[in-house]
Formats: sequence, C-alpha cells, structure tokens
Amino acid sequence: MNKRKGLRVFAPASVANVAVGYDVLGFALDKPGDELVVREGSKPGLVIKSIHGNSGLSKEIHKNTAGYAAFRLMESLGYEKEAVEIELYKKMGIGTGLGSSAASAVAGVFAVNEFFGRPYSKDQLLRFATDAEQIADGSWHADNVAPSLLGSIILIRDNASMDYVKLPVPDGLRVVILYPKISVLTKKSRAILKQEISLDLHIKQGANLGAFVAALYKSDLALMSRSLTDHIIEPQRAGLIPHFAALKALAMESHALACSISGAGPSIFALTDNTVKADNILNVWTRFMSDKAMDFDVFISKINTEGAKVF
Ligand code: HSE
Repeated sequence: MNKRKGLRVFAPASVANVAVGYDVLGFALDKPGDELVVREGSKPGLVIKSIHGNSGLSKEIHKNTAGYAAFRLMESLGYEKEAVEIELYKKMGIGTGLGSSAASAVAGVFAVNEFFGRPYSKDQLLRFATDAEQIADGSWHADNVAPSLLGSIILIRDNASMDYVKLPVPDGLRVVILYPKISVLTKKSRAILKQEISLDLHIKQGANLGAFVAALYKSDLALMSRSLTDHIIEPQRAGLIPHFAALKALAMESHALACSISGAGPSIFALTDNTVKADNILNVWTRFMSDKAMDFDVFISKINTEGAKVF
C-alpha cells in the first residue's frame, strides 16, 4: 500500500436487538454503510481531516467514534505520535437506529489497523470499536459494532468479556428497512426502559431467544417467525416511533417472518424469506407512508456476512 495515497474501507449499518436480544443480538446489512479513507498525515498524531455527509459530527478525536476507535488502537500499539489522517464519509444520519455511530467506529479502527499492516485480527478490534461506541450513548454494548465489523448475525454472550458467537444466516433472507426521518437518540431511548422485568417476561423472552438461535442453525424459518416476538423492549419503545403498530400490522399481513424496531429506533425492520415478499412489504409501507406528513426512506437489503472491508 502507498501510505500517502492510503486506503478506503466500508463498514456496514446494522440492526441491533433483533426483537429478542436487547443488547446481545445484531445483524449487518449490505447497505447503507460508512466509508473512511486513511492515509499518512502531515503532522504527528491522528487527525480527522474532514467529515462528508453529516456536518453535525465533531472532528475532535475524543468526541468522534471513528476517531476514538482509531486512536485507541494506535495507543495500544504505541503509535499515537504516528502521522495519520482520516476522512469520514457518513452515509447515514445519527439517531436512525441503524448503528450509525457503530459503523463509524468500526470504519475508523478497521482502516487504521489495515494502514499499519494489520497488527490485530478483526476479533481483537472489537474492543476498540466498543470503547468508541460507548462515547456515543454512554453504555457498553457491542450489538451494533460486532455485526458491522464481523458481518452476519452475532450473539454476544457477554458484553463485558466480548464473548460472542457468529450465527449462521439461512439462505434467502431479506430485510426490509423503513426509516422514518425523525431522530431518536439512543441515550433517550434507553433511558425510558424499566430496569426490572417480571419472571414471566424473562421466561417468554429467554425461550424466544433460544428458539431463534436454534432456528438459525436448523434453517427453520417457521420457528424463526414464531420466536421473533419481543415481549420486553418493543412495547416500551413503540410509542417513540410514528405509526409503528400500523406498519408492523402491514408487514405481518404481507407475510413477513417478523417485524420489530431496529436498535433503539426509529427505523423498523421486517424479515422475509424471499425477494417477492420483501418487494410487497416495501410497496405497502411506501403507500402507507406517502400520505403521512413525514419524510422516510425504505429499502431492501440482504444480511451482510462479510462485515467491514477494504474496497
Ligand atoms: N441495544 C441498543 C439499544 C442498540 O437498543 O439501545 C442501540 O445502540
């Protein structure tokens, strides 16, 4: 690699929680995703030279998830005085529910690791990216950064020790995403959640999470569909998302396997087993939203099994 010219990476958006795994489940999307260029800088240290596509983000290393994740990696190698500059190309807004801050964190740490000749494995980068994600919403959870970095559907058994399992992705799955263009800040969406749940809810949700994982290993889409009901978080957050109940009903009537909130919202996702059903859901959601006084975006993606990559 020519260090002056540098390299460009892509880190995908992700859907966290996946209905039954609050803070412990997430999958990566094919699109959108953040892009980041890293090259040799003109003075010692890490510099965010520019941010394209989202002028609201700070260029201060310690206030930017891309910068902070990259900085933590450089620090761990004793390279914090190396001249490195990065340019971040934001392809999604903040507060979308699609893991925007996580994608930036992953792009930053993945790019700088490649720039230095890949001293760490992807696995080892997870901690730096999660460190950075914490500055965005104040809590330590890898359910967006892990799928963005590693691809696929990830179950995090324990966030503290970063003990995770990369789960199999059944063939043919399609995700339909609807992003109503309002911003829901994760911090706020977390703050409204009750800190305690009943034993009854724990039993229901635990059984559903276990059955969902079994469904992935068995490629049993009927079991997946029966499993993906969120008894705990969705009922508490649904009110933050305009028309959530109606949109979910439309998706389920159109034979979605499941429909729930993407991460902390406001985006919602529907899972289907083929492109025809995905197109139908996209069309009914588009028709429903077009007479509402709200801008929105709707698109179809596969589950991305590759995660962050150089391109
Ligand atoms: N698990 C997180 C949440 C994802 O739902 O708050 C958003 O960062």
